[in-house]
Amino acid sequence: MTNKITSLTEYLKAYQESIAHPDDFWAKIATTHFWRKSWDQVVKWRFDGDQAPDVQWFVNGKLNITENIFERQLFMRENQTAIIWEPNDPKEKEIYLTYGELFEKVNQFANTLLKLGVKKGDRVAIYLPMVPELAISMLACARIGAIHSIIFAGFSATALSDRIVDAQAKVLLTADGGFRGNKTIALKEISDEALETSPTVEQVVVLKRTGESVSMKEGRDIWWHDAIKNVSTENTAEVMDAEDPLFILYTSGSTGKPKGVVHTTAGYMVYSEYTFKNVFQYDEGDMYWCTADIGWVTGHSYIIYGPLLTGATTIMFEGIPTFPDAGRFWDIVDKYKVNQIYTAPTAIRALMAQGDEWVTKHDLSSLKVLGTVGEPINEEAWRWYHEVVGKGHCPVVDTWWQTETGGILIAPLAGITPTKPTMATLPLPGVQPVLVDQEGNEIKGNGVQGILCIKHPWPGMLRTTWGDHDRCYQTYFSMYKGLYLTGDGAKRDEEGYYRIIGRIDDVINVSGHRIGTAEVEDAINQHPKVVESAVVGYPHPIKGSGIYAYVIAEEMADAQKNGLEDEIRDTVNRLIGPIAKPDVIQMVSGLPKTRSGKIMRRILRKIGEGDATQLGDISTLLDPSVVEEIIAGAKVEVKR
Ligand code: WTA
Repeated sequence: MTNKITSLTEYLKAYQESIAHPDDFWAKIATTHFWRKSWDQVVKWRFDGDQAPDVQWFVNGKLNITENIFERQLFMRENQTAIIWEPNDPKEKEIYLTYGELFEKVNQFANTLLKLGVKKGDRVAIYLPMVPELAISMLACARIGAIHSIIFAGFSATALSDRIVDAQAKVLLTADGGFRGNKTIALKEISDEALETSPTVEQVVVLKRTGESVSMKEGRDIWWHDAIKNVSTENTAEVMDAEDPLFILYTSGSTGKPKGVVHTTAGYMVYSEYTFKNVFQYDEGDMYWCTADIGWVTGHSYIIYGPLLTGATTIMFEGIPTFPDAGRFWDIVDKYKVNQIYTAPTAIRALMAQGDEWVTKHDLSSLKVLGTVGEPINEEAWRWYHEVVGKGHCPVVDTWWQTETGGILIAPLAGITPTKPTMATLPLPGVQPVLVDQEGNEIKGNGVQGILCIKHPWPGMLRTTWGDHDRCYQTYFSMYKGLYLTGDGAKRDEEGYYRIIGRIDDVINVSGHRIGTAEVEDAINQHPKVVESAVVGYPHPIKGSGIYAYVIAEEMADAQKNGLEDEIRDTVNRLIGPIAKPDVIQMVSGLPKTRSGKIMRRILRKIGEGDATQLGDISTLLDPSVVEEIIAGAKVEVKR
């Protein structure tokens, strides 16, 4: 397979080349793609200064990413399975789509979008469950140059509307409903509510999935099956500039509303393919399965774009790990003889808690690579994954990256880079991580710890935040001059291996999902009886971090008996979605604030962690006595 590293020596050599001559390195990789017109310059960049960040890869190159998935490979892959779709309910039939079939469906839906008036550069919001049409529609957008903005189907109407409005989407693609374990989610109903406050949407295409009855608004809503009727399956791809946006994906940060991370065409394409084949060491004919949802970046890059660009067979799973029982993941591995599995520590811990028999009763001998992503993997989970799932012979590939990075930045190459429990190991070629102190001074050498930054662009990095370029600069490039700030802390051990410790900002990683504490606080504060709140993360055995909310209510005495806690959870559910619901709510009469009115989260975080032994100096607080009250009423056991 072209551009695939096959030994540690090759990796070391590639890494060195990529640092010494990044242009030559990436140019060589990109020449294996299909370009309508080649680039004039490999990379042009500036992290700081006027209009920064300004990052352009393959400047003036022209291409279409779907031509690289289809036309580039069809002559050899027409009859090879591209996507296997495994339904939520194992009694329902799975679907196999070959590259040839997928191509026709993508073309047909591309033509459908054109018929609906969607043009190059328009935004299409996609709020679909994990069904083949999700894959088809995102590729159809890419085919015609429309920018897809996929919204995870677990988000609420308000969250959906916020994202549609920010991106000014013209069309919404949704379904009547979605299946998730033994539940259904009323996607069309939620969409209808969202659309009341989303004026830019002119048309809604509705897929029939659950068969529940929905209301269709005349002139606005159209059934998917009607929309594609008699539409041609032939389409010529739109010619895109290398830097034309491919998609927007919203993600949470430490302040304000989620921001629309923008990825562009060529760099993202080159990077997602290169990292996919190298990290997972995909071989021709392998069966690859990433368990993520396409609503998150992992699904974008490593269910769809990376694998399909490589010509892989990728499995798309509609359901959840515990339905109909805790053996579902291993059923699927066994059923399709999966070679590479890619999942999250939270799923590993949840399944580990169910007992080994669920795993051991299945034949998992096909497995070669065990991938993980989304949060730091604890040693116990790492070992269980390695020993019980992989029988000790499959490398655990701990991949560190972010929505903003587009693809994996630090990870072992499966079977090539020696692994160590809990370590993401070494940077991929082209990636230059640095650790800095609070002042931004680089911490050199090994056996050190600091704030993780990146000092040279890589092709898959974000280019801007939708509609607000300055926000992109402020968030990622303003803190330390000339560096991309990841928001994570990391250790570099004696051998130069990286271990990601976790977020250093007000972002909580709940079950591998990024939740901004400010967003949750805003939602809680919307409840009419809430005066103020402060949200922190706390260690949770399955989720990694849970959400701990300290809340001041108008009438504290009534709070308990009036079920205020449940109401607060419902409010968060309504405004964001179930993933952001606080695990713990503690009613308090005050919050620890400095004399200037700033909440000292450090103290709340410590209490949530159950450790009040080192609260530091609290004498600067406006009212130090609230600390004692909070400790006494804590919902976790607190060591004093
Ligand atoms: C965390 C997911 C430790 C990290 C691809 C990062 C990880 C955030 C790992 C990005 C890992 C992701 N080890 N932490 N292997 N992978 N993270 O944008 O805090 O949903 O900043 O992208 O998840 O989450 P996001």
